[in-house]
Amino acid sequence: MQHALALAAQHLGATAENPCVGCVIVKGGTIIGEGVTGLGGRPHAEVIALNAAGAQARGADMYVTLEPCAHTGKTPPCAEALIATGVARVFIACVDPDTRVSGRGISLLRAAGMDVELGLCEAQAKKQHRGFFRRLTHGLPHVTMKIATSADGFMGAQRAPFITGEVARTHGQSLRAHAGAIITGVQTVIDDDPKLTCRIPGLEGRNPVRIILDRSLRTPLDRYVVKTAGEIPTYIFTSDEAMQTSAALDLRERGVNLVVLEQNIRITNHELLTTILREAAKLNLTHVLIEAGPTLSQAFLQANLVDALYWYQSPQALGDAGTHPLIHPPHLRGREGRGDLLKGDDSSTSPPPNLPPQGGEGLSAASESSLLAEDTLRVYQMASCLPD
Ligand SMILES: NC(=O)c1ccc[n+]([C@@H]2O[C@H](COP(=O)([O-])OP(=O)(O)OC[C@H]3O[C@@H](n4cnc5c(N)ncnc54)[C@H](OP(=O)(O)O)[C@@H]3O)[C@@H](O)[C@H]2O)c1
Repeated sequence: MQHALALAAQHLGATAENPCVGCVIVKGGTIIGEGVTGLGGRPHAEVIALNAAGAQARGADMYVTLEPCAHTGKTPPCAEALIATGVARVFIACVDPDTRVSGRGISLLRAAGMDVELGLCEAQAKKQHRGFFRRLTHGLPHVTMKIATSADGFMGAQRAPFITGEVARTHGQSLRAHAGAIITGVQTVIDDDPKLTCRIPGLEGRNPVRIILDRSLRTPLDRYVVKTAGEIPTYIFTSDEAMQTSAALDLRERGVNLVVLEQNIRITNHELLTTILREAAKLNLTHVLIEAGPTLSQAFLQANLVDALYWYQSPQALGDAGTHPLIHPPHLRGREGRGDLLKGDDSSTSPPPNLPPQGGEGLSAASESSLLAEDTLRVYQMASCLPD
């Protein structure tokens, strides 16, 4: 099952509306077939593994990170494929909360005389599937945020395109490969003209959908995200008022999808940002990555709507050249104990400005200083108010 979980981790965040599942088939102590849900959500992991095992699957054991599906969607039910191939025993990490499947896949297998064992590595699997589970049960995605700051807390710099070095930026792109969508603010699009793509060799094309928060449709038409909207799905979440302007027509003509947020003038920021996340989930997005300037980053952090924060910190102070300070230090309250996160030696670095020292009350952080040549990456598992 550990191997099945590791397989699933490869495509996590890149299987659209489908769960990202790992599957391994074992016979006589040898792996005879394995699979992970295909990019975009198909084919299903079980089918890939069964095809690889072929006739050898008869009498074998299958390890799968989620209950095999029991309904006919765009593909036939995996449970039936398993029965047809004569797999003898199935280890399932956790039950699928999808009402079309939940418990039914297991019942089908048991009714066919298969030995089904439920709950192997369940906690790990549930953690891996938590974006999918949350979207199905609460209509919300899993939320990751990445920010980069200078040593003195600035998120922007005059006359310098980047705050951090190449290794940190590449690592940031790897987060994109595991996100269904990037959420950013219109000001970042105006100032930086970001590509918001993953350009890591071997992972090119793992480009998340883009969501730009832009209440008055200020997004310039000459920006990369608009020019490439025909290739990479691009959404602007905006207001009803802005939809009456010519900018709406211009953006639509270029293939940008406009989503109107039902905004009540008295709505709190927490409610508004939650609505934004709900709209993302309605687009079948399970994992979103927030990559914005301090305005939106702080808003999401203060609303407690972030599950994991990746914070790249440069050793360089910017002084007078710094712009866009991260004014209000995010309220970082840890959900898990120290040491459960990424490993790395952080002994040579001091805590980010305005933050309690590591190990402070409720704070959970680890750094990847070994990974980054000069910059430090701290990863915080947040005490998000989003449901599990
Ligand atoms: N170091 C980093 O990690 C990093 C990452 C990204 C960007 N940046 C830098 O950040 C700078 C831009 O920062 P920023 O703070 O001005 O921009 P931002 O956070 O990217 O975008 C802010 C804009 O988002 C729009 N918005 C829509 N809905 C919102 C909501 N509910 N709450 C708040 N804002 C909402 C607002 O414009 P409307 O009111 O017009 O909708 C607001 O002006 C850029 O210069 C860029 O270089 C740094």
